[in-house]
Amino acid sequence: MNHISIEQKLISREEDVTPTVLRAMQNTTDARLKELVTSLVTHLHAFVGETRPTEAEFEYGLRWIAALGHHTNDFNNEVVLAADVLGISTLIDLINNDGMQGETMSALLGPFYRGAAPICASGDCIARSDTPGAGLYFTGRVTGVNGQPIADASLDVWQASPVGLYENQDETQDDFNLRGKFTTDADGRFHFVSVKPAGYPVPTDGPVGDLLRAQNREPMRPAHIHFIVSAPGHKTLITQIFADSLEALVGDVVFGAKKQIVGNFVRYDEPHPDYPGVAAPFFTCDYEFKLVEGTPCFPVPPISGKKG
Ligand code: BEZ
Ligand code: FE
Repeated sequence: MNHISIEQKLISREEDVTPTVLRAMQNTTDARLKELVTSLVTHLHAFVGETRPTEAEFEYGLRWIAALGHHTNDFNNEVVLAADVLGISTLIDLINNDGMQGETMSALLGPFYRGAAPICASGDCIARSDTPGAGLYFTGRVTGVNGQPIADASLDVWQASPVGLYENQDETQDDFNLRGKFTTDADGRFHFVSVKPAGYPVPTDGPVGDLLRAQNREPMRPAHIHFIVSAPGHKTLITQIFADSLEALVGDVVFGAKKQIVGNFVRYDEPHPDYPGVAAPFFTCDYEFKLVEGTPCFPVPPISGKKG
C-alpha cells in the first residue's frame, strides 16, 4: 500500500471521504463484520454521491429512521415492517432459503410473531375469543424432503382475525387469540380448527405508512396463516400458507407471496362428518410441509406483548 502522509489523511474534498472512512475501519477484528460494514459504507457513500441529497432531505431521512425506533414497542415492530416493504426481508429470505432441495418454500416471519403461544393438542381450536367469520379446518403433515413422516415436529401457528387484525393489535381479542403450538403424531400429522384468514393492511400509522402513501402504494397483504415448523435434525421452516386471489398475491405490499405456498382452501356449505367441531360454512385446507435436514434455528420474536 502506498504511504499516505499525515496531511493527506485530512479530508479536503468530497472524494476523500469514502477512502478515509474505510481506512478508519480497517482494523476491525471480526472479518465478517469488516466485510459487511466496508461494503455497507461503500454502497451508502455511492448512493449519496449519486443522488446528492440536500441537507433538508438528509435531515428528513434521519428523522424517518428515528421514527422507526419511536414506533417500535412491545406490540409493533416498525423496523421489521420497513425492511419488509422495501423488499429487503424477501431478498434475505430467498438468499438463505431457495427451496432447491425440495423443502417447502419459506416466507417472511413478519413483525407480529410473539412466540410463547399456548401449547395445543391436535384438533384444538385457536379462536380463543369470539372471532366471527367462516370456520377453517386445517389438516397438515410434516415430512422430510423424501416424504418420510416426521413425528414430534413442532408447529407454531399464528394468523390475523377475519377483520384483519392480529390479537396484539386489537384490544377486543383475547391474549393469544389465533395463535397456538401443535405437535405432529407418529405419522407426521396434525390438525386444528380456526377461522379463515382475511387479507389485511399492514400498520400505516407510522413512518412506513408515510412512505407507502408517498409512493401511492396499497398497504395490503393477501390472506395467509403463519407457520414455524421445526424438528430436531432439520432446518427450521418459517413460512406462510396463502388463501387469496392471484391479484391479491401479486399486490402483496411486502412481496412475501410465493406460488409454491398457496393453499387449496375448499368451501363447505354444510357440516361434514370428516370435519367435526367446525360450523358451516367452513373451509378446509390440507398442506404437506417438507423439511430439509439441517440445524434448527428459532427466530427471536420481533414483539413480545399485546396492546391494552
Ligand atoms: C405478516 O404477515 O404478519 C406481515 C409481514 C410483513 C409485514 C407486515 C405483516
Ligand atoms: Fe401475517
